[in-house]
Amino acid sequence: MKFKDEVARRRTFGIVSHPDAGKTTLTEKLLLYGGAIQEAGAVKSNKIKKGAASDFMEIERQRGISVATSVLAFEYDGTKINILDTPGHKDFAEDTFRTLTAVDSVIVVVDVAKGVEEQTEKLVEVCRMRQIPMIVFINKMDREGKDAFDLLDEIEQKLGLHVTPLSFPIGMGYDLKGIYNLHQKNVNLFTGETSKDIHNTVKISDLSDPKLNQLLGDTSADQLREELELVQGIYPDFDREEYLAGNLQPVFFGSALHNFGVKELLDGFIEIAPPPRPKNAEEREVKPLEDDFSGFVFKIHANMDPKHRDRLAFVKIVSGKFERNTAYKHVRLGKNLKFSSPNAFFAEKKEIVDVSYPGDIVGLHDTGNFKIGDTLTSGEELHYKGIPSFSPEHFRYINNADPMKSKQLAKGIDQLMDEGVAQLFTLELNGRKVIGTVGALQFEVIQYRLEHEYSAKCSYENLNVHKACWVDTADWESEEFNDFKRVKAKFLAKDKRGQLVFFADSAFSLQMTQQKYPGIKFHFVSEFE
Ligand code: G4P
Repeated sequence: MKFKDEVARRRTFGIVSHPDAGKTTLTEKLLLYGGAIQEAGAVKSNKIKKGAASDFMEIERQRGISVATSVLAFEYDGTKINILDTPGHKDFAEDTFRTLTAVDSVIVVVDVAKGVEEQTEKLVEVCRMRQIPMIVFINKMDREGKDAFDLLDEIEQKLGLHVTPLSFPIGMGYDLKGIYNLHQKNVNLFTGETSKDIHNTVKISDLSDPKLNQLLGDTSADQLREELELVQGIYPDFDREEYLAGNLQPVFFGSALHNFGVKELLDGFIEIAPPPRPKNAEEREVKPLEDDFSGFVFKIHANMDPKHRDRLAFVKIVSGKFERNTAYKHVRLGKNLKFSSPNAFFAEKKEIVDVSYPGDIVGLHDTGNFKIGDTLTSGEELHYKGIPSFSPEHFRYINNADPMKSKQLAKGIDQLMDEGVAQLFTLELNGRKVIGTVGALQFEVIQYRLEHEYSAKCSYENLNVHKACWVDTADWESEEFNDFKRVKAKFLAKDKRGQLVFFADSAFSLQMTQQKYPGIKFHFVSEFE
């Protein structure tokens, strides 16, 4: 197949949702369609149920064995689909944000009864800012939930989206009769079975067709006609360009558990979702069809098996072909690296591959060369933008609890920070190390992993910080800035890249500081123009 056809047939996306909305169940059903797995239950949930570190460790251990859960790839109808895993737990939101830099589109799963939930709001906001094309899947239609129109309203209000349904439910819960596919103009009847094939699709190209009454009964048929009239009156026609620009979000309804409405979603998805998109580097925009290879690291996965310590760096290919045993430039280190066993991911396994294409993810074995955000190229000096660190919200001093192991501790901390587990800051005043995280769970994770992977012990000490923000100013020599540095000396630190960070001990003091020093900018994300 030609290079350009390989690129055109790829769809790389993430599924985002609040925990429990049905992301795992939906993923599994999509894989069943791709023939990638044979039975339900094969996809491991990445859910942290009790919110405990041990739970997280268990998940990570399982993943270490089957790292494939981070990227699930399968073929469907001539399309190569790559699903990137996005943890739903809020303490791992940063991991999800970073993964969203590597997707070309997103499916948002909403629970019909619970409606729009907190994590969905946050994740969709990130997608909206990045203008990522989004499809909404309203799940659990086999249960009683909110009225479809009310829910569409809620999605528009709370998520700031402009929706247009491409399918519409006929009843719900006990009364779920089926789904009308507005796009293909047919009815899919709900039987409550979880079969893979859909035998019950009936073509109804004209809504006044009496067949509709025979299928649904007079009351439901009339109600559907009324509702579809309303849909057509309220919502705009689907327009692919608008969807691709992030201005319009098509909606599908269904039940992942019953494998109902999932095929409509998948067929709709492969028809409209974008193939790999161009990406901005600091230097220029890079297009997928360019000859020269380039890609960036968006995730680093530790190998939890102590016998094989190396890590796996996940590289999203942006342009050109990635070939095995070929020297590529690691731009940050300024050196060439060759990879003899790059992994490609499939539903349940990873395999060494010779060639990968834009849109694909390759896993590279790494002994400490990579950090999140690193760029690899065929030789060009490119730096991909857009893997920011978010302002952490939990802070603790980290101390060495075993003086004999200080080297191991330093190495462990270094590597965990490269993986993006947390952020390390060094106080300007006394050089003490502070760990900042987005969720409290990470402290336990760090402690556990330092002990189990690096044989090092750490202890924590509380530190009263409300928020850390990155400091920027037009004039680093100004009187104002010198005054700020003197007055706030106790609250200043450097991050790993040497950028200056201000630790505000309360919302009030942050506000006062901002007012007092108008020439200084305080950023809540590490990457700013
Ligand atoms: P998540 O990955 O988004 O966190 O959600 P997951 O798929 O694990 O689904 C959460 C729960 O919702 C599961 O039940 C799952 O079976 C259920 N579920 C998913 N889709 C549907 C649906 O279409 N209809 C109904 N009625 N339920 C659905 P659980 O009891 O928490 O777990 P399990 O023990 O059944 O696996």
